[in-house]
Amino acid sequence: MTRRIRVAVLFGGRSGEHEVSLQSAASILRALDRERFEPVPIGITKEGRWLLPADAARALEEGLASMEGRYLAFRPEPGARGGLIAVDGPDGGAAGGPGLVDVDVVFPVLHGTYGEDGTVQGLLELAGIPYVGSGVLASALAMDKAMQKDLFRQKGIPVPDYTLVRARELETDFEGVVRRLEEGFAYPMFVKPANLGSSVGITKAHDRAELAAGLRLAAQYDRRLVVEEAIDGREIECSVLGNEEPVASLPGEVVPGHEFYDYEAKYIDDSSRLIIPAELDAATTARIQELAVQSFLALDASGLARVDFFLERRTGRVLVNEVNTMPGFTRISMYPKLWEASGLPYTELLTQLIELAFERHRARAALRTDYRPNSGGC
Ligand SMILES: Nc1ncnc2c1ncn2[C@@H]1O[C@H](COP(=O)(O)OP(=O)(O)O)[C@@H](O)[C@H]1O
Ligand SMILES: [Mg+2]
Repeated sequence: MTRRIRVAVLFGGRSGEHEVSLQSAASILRALDRERFEPVPIGITKEGRWLLPADAARALEEGLASMEGRYLAFRPEPGARGGLIAVDGPDGGAAGGPGLVDVDVVFPVLHGTYGEDGTVQGLLELAGIPYVGSGVLASALAMDKAMQKDLFRQKGIPVPDYTLVRARELETDFEGVVRRLEEGFAYPMFVKPANLGSSVGITKAHDRAELAAGLRLAAQYDRRLVVEEAIDGREIECSVLGNEEPVASLPGEVVPGHEFYDYEAKYIDDSSRLIIPAELDAATTARIQELAVQSFLALDASGLARVDFFLERRTGRVLVNEVNTMPGFTRISMYPKLWEASGLPYTELLTQLIELAFERHRARAALRTDYRPNSGGC
């Protein structure tokens, strides 16, 4: 019998989406094909501590605040099978001596900051461990609403009209910023911190007072803010899977229970509905799938991404809102549900994602990093 592949499943993390991550990871751990894969659950507390939980099921169920287990340290150099080292205390003092935690691949089931933004991906690159999903650049770009929109605009991918505001400008000339925004956009407008998720810090501003309050709120979360025109549209999402030749699923629709898809509508009050697949004509479906793949490639994403759109009611225009490189992954989340509706069951999807992680790792490992003038061959 061949050895099973050891998959480190990272969950939790220093993020506003910590709890969502626990739900995604619980679903993934339940569904992973145990004939091929042996999961190694690894919890990351809200303080950023990595632990091999003594009782992973309990940690996932009850939260990581009181999680017990062996601490993990990272060896920032490529090893034979992963660079993770278990130690027994936070200071590295190990009763039984530090032990290498053998893993073949990492599935960072982390949403938002310090997980979906390229930071963990950088650590895994240094350690030379294959991992599921996008690399450093695509993760960071997808997390940054301003950089991402700059890139899409440059590639001709349609996005809502937007502008960048620096928190610093607000300190020096608040009135001037408000004037500039009112000249550029009609109310309502959306104000967002550039780097966050889960609708945290986002305001739909209907007048000057709400705009001012929205700017102050968003500036508490980031040095850079995005202000954009409000689109009166349906919210359509599309799942993308692959590396060099990504494919798009059938699109789905989110019908937010609130005025917009805010934090409560997403996670708290169950008011939002997912329609899978979305009711769209064939041409709109094709357009959305085409733009989903284009957006994925523009960011140089890998493995998976969920691309979110607005379908403007009045004009039928399709605009890209944002890309999520580690979308919600419970059994009832949009990303896997869209694949299920497109004929790819949850467990098989996980298997493909892990295979894509190895494929990307092999491709990167084969690249040259040195300068040797005579070894090029051709
Ligand atoms: N320009 C816009 N026009 C209309 N609705 C918007 C716009 N921007 C954001 N929204 C609403 O706010 C929600 C959250 O914004 P989004 O940019 O997707 O941030 P997050 O990364 O937090 O999900 C969207 O799902 C949508 O309901
Ligand atoms: Mg969103």
